[in-house]
Amino acid sequence: MIVASFIGLSLDLPLVGVSIQDTSTTWPRLREAGSIGISALAAEHAGINRQLAGPADKRFDGVSWTADGTAVLIDGSTATFTTRLVEEITTGDHTLAVLKVLDAASYAEQTPLVFHNSEFRPAFR
Ligand SMILES: Cc1cc2nc3c(=O)[nH]c(=O)nc-3n(C[C@H](O)[C@H](O)[C@H](O)COP(=O)(O)O)c2cc1C
Repeated sequence: MIVASFIGLSLDLPLVGVSIQDTSTTWPRLREAGSIGISALAAEHAGINRQLAGPADKRFDGVSWTADGTAVLIDGSTATFTTRLVEEITTGDHTLAVLKVLDAASYAEQTPLVFHNSEFRPAFR
């Protein structure tokens, strides 16, 4: 699933967070996984971002990805994180998922993808 709510929470322990809407049908499956992959999308993913937020059975059609345990990491991202769920905090109609970072990689050469004014576009470099 696409999330705009990704945040860094802590350095020591290394923790990140994502806010998940209660209606998500993907989260009940993800939260049972041994590890969860997070990929910061790049400009080259502009054509697949809507697909990644769409029906789950077609979400990865034509998308190049790599597995790290049960974590799915999308190839060509600006950064990837392999994480494990450590806590869930109810926040209104969302759940804040607190995730421990097990492994991380950054790819500074990639141009980030930004979501602005309801559109995905490459970040200015
Ligand atoms: C730009 C964008 C940002 C999104 N951010 C979030 C988010 O932060 N949290 C969330 O739960 N869903 C977010 N969504 C919606 C999910 O990607 C997904 O469409 C939704 O969870 C329904 O799919 P599911 O039932 O498979 O979970 C976002 C969608 C888009 C297009």
